[in-house]
This record gives sequence, structure tokens and C-alpha cells, in this order.
Amino acid sequence: MATHQISCFVNGVKADIEIESSHLLIDVLRDKLGLISVKRSCDMQVCGACTVLIDGKPVSSCTTLAVEMDGADILTAEGLSAGGNLHPIQQAFIDKGALQCGFCTYGMMLSSLALLKESPNPSEQEIQHYLHGNICRCTGYTSIIKAVQQAAVSGGNGE
Ligand code: FES
Ligand code: FES
Repeated sequence: MATHQISCFVNGVKADIEIESSHLLIDVLRDKLGLISVKRSCDMQVCGACTVLIDGKPVSSCTTLAVEMDGADILTAEGLSAGGNLHPIQQAFIDKGALQCGFCTYGMMLSSLALLKESPNPSEQEIQHYLHGNICRCTGYTSIIKAVQQAAVSGGNGE
């Protein structure tokens, strides 16, 4: 199997990684870099549990080849907090009780961040639409929407 050297930024840190052509991004992040917030569930780009941000856009890492990541800027949930402080989106999910088992939560928070970067003050409909690719089996979504609304007013887009 051919190997490749890719160079990218993961949570703000440069990473030089040797991979095989067939390696999926989810496996590289979890197994090579130890970023286990990236969850595998459906494995077919349906549930959103494996969502990471690539250059600010939500992407399903379960169906993305790692070899395509050369030069990319990748964000996982491990990169959300800074200096020991929770990101406003993380705080909002806690404050609003927007998680139960937590399996969907990391992907949900990253998609929320991408939404707030695009639309700093989204309507409830916009939130529902943007998060439709992130499936939650536990919360019923109401608390998730409230969390995104709280994050919108507490600097959740980082600006
Ligand atoms: S595990 Fe990737 S979308 Fe479900
Ligand atoms: S909190 Fe359990 S799947 Fe969303």
C-alpha cells in the first residue's frame, strides 16, 4: 500500500503525518492523533457524529480520505477550549442541558460553531436547518437549539 506524508494543522498545531492512501480522516484523527472526540456511528455520512471542521466547514470525517487533508486546517472538539476556559458553545451546551449520552455532542458543537461563523444571530429555523445533518437520539433537540441561541449571544462565533 502506498504511503503519503501529509502536513496539516490540527487544532492549531502543525501535524506531519504518514498515512496510507486508503486511510480515512476519522481513523487518522482517532488512532494516530488520539482525538477521540471524533465519534464513529453510522460510518456512511448520515449521523454527523464524526463531524470535524475543515477550513471552517463541517465535514464527515468517516467518508473523507486523509490524503486530501494536506494543507488543511482541521478543528476537532478538543480544540474548542482555550487556556483552560470552555468555549462559549461548550458552556452553552452545559448550561442548557443540551446533551445526554454525549455521543452526538462533539459534532453538534462543531456544526454550531460553523453556523455561528456564517450567521452570528441565527433564527430557530436556521439552526434547525444547519444542524439537520447532526442526529441526536437523546435530547429531542429543543435544548440544543436553546444552547446555540445562548452561544450566539455569548460570543460563540469567537468574534
Ligand atoms: S459516523 Fe460519520 S456521519 Fe455518521
Ligand atoms: S446526546 Fe445522545 S445522541 Fe445526542
